[in-house]
Amino acid sequence: MTDLPFADYQQPTKPAAGPRLAIVGEAPGAEEARLGRPFVGRSGKLLDENLAAAGVERAECLVANVFRHQPPGNKVGHFFSSRTRARKEGREIDERWGAFGTSDYVLAEFSGEIDHLREALAAFAPRVVVALGRTPTWALTGRNGIMQLRGSLLPCRLLDGVEVVPTFHPSYILRGQLAEQPTFLADLKLAVSRLAG
Ligand code: URA
Repeated sequence: MTDLPFADYQQPTKPAAGPRLAIVGEAPGAEEARLGRPFVGRSGKLLDENLAAAGVERAECLVANVFRHQPPGNKVGHFFSSRTRARKEGREIDERWGAFGTSDYVLAEFSGEIDHLREALAAFAPRVVVALGRTPTWALTGRNGIMQLRGSLLPCRLLDGVEVVPTFHPSYILRGQLAEQPTFLADLKLAVSRLAG
């Protein structure tokens, strides 16, 4: 399909005591592709610190990305195209998943990644999924606009009865938005609170 660098999901190494949490990012970066695992670079460190502060054991979670391939320049736009550009370039888009942003759709050659995520979620059976940034929020809920959606509880379109908590991508915080770290932690705590009961 593609020979882009690849990192698979991280399956839990420890059984959860109660309802399960899944964490979904965008796509692996260079460090993730080198080690073949998601969130092991700088973003992963920030994620791990905040998960621990929210009382989550990462070892009990499924940690996934919407796309398992590292896009050139870490630009997720690589996986999407407008109808016009796809036509010009002779490529296929898959409109099944709806528009990403105003006018882009996932390219057909990558849309199987969303089916794969759905299957992995079905196998793991989480109660709550944390969506790290706009790409997983779109893939998991069909909604666009992370700034408006973060900190809310949305139904997961990939698995019935599951709640999605969108929050910032850790790399956004690392790129000069350190003031948002308490909000990020509060969103993770919200997700954890939904596991109780
Ligand atoms: N960013 C992501 O979205 N996923 C990773 O695994 C690493 C960085």
